[in-house]
Amino acid sequence: MQIFLDSTDTKQIRELAATGLVDGVTTNPSLIAKAGRPMLEVIAEICDIVEGPISAESVATDHKTMIEEGKKLAAVASNVVVKLPLTKDGLIACAELAREGINVNVTLCFSAVQALLAAKAGAAYISPFIGRLDDHGADGVGLIGDIRQIYDNYGYDTEILAASIRTAEHVRGSALAGADCATIPPDVFATLFKHPLTDKGLDQFLSDWAKTGQSIL
Ligand code: E4P
Repeated sequence: MQIFLDSTDTKQIRELAATGLVDGVTTNPSLIAKAGRPMLEVIAEICDIVEGPISAESVATDHKTMIEEGKKLAAVASNVVVKLPLTKDGLIACAELAREGINVNVTLCFSAVQALLAAKAGAAYISPFIGRLDDHGADGVGLIGDIRQIYDNYGYDTEILAASIRTAEHVRGSALAGADCATIPPDVFATLFKHPLTDKGLDQFLSDWAKTGQSIL
């Protein structure tokens, strides 16, 4: 499963990309607002740090303007993926941008039939928001499984990008349900390395090793 960072914090992205485990980055208008810098500048910087797909979201609500914004965003760097909301206009714009060879990530997906429509519109990625669905009392990870089955039934190659991830458990559930990628906030990414038994086991190994008085180097 590919791991994307859901962030516009370029310092943090740079640090985490150095692990070699980061395949891409997603952003959204709220994260751009949080960065407090011009959007195109932030996107260009992220595209320089991470070679993989970098999602940059249109803020238009009509398909004509979405297409114009999408083309402008795609021109920032060759690895930009244009992010569009799962609305009727969003899917019209998705189909047009896809026809022109621009990769689209359809975002704000909350149902399997929405995901089906996005695949039909030629989306490169579909972003089901599993955390927000759970907040709403629904089954976010269950949606990933439903979309996986539908895409496999019909051979759609749209990649399932699990989004709105809040916990390591969401990452586990998404991977088991067959998500192609998960976009993860940096603080959640940091928790993925951790297990209390790893810390405990390492402490024990190091203390036993110290008793030997040996050194490997
Ligand atoms: C997805 O691409 C979005 O940027 C993001 O995952 C939304 O997450 P949130 O529900 O934590 O805002």
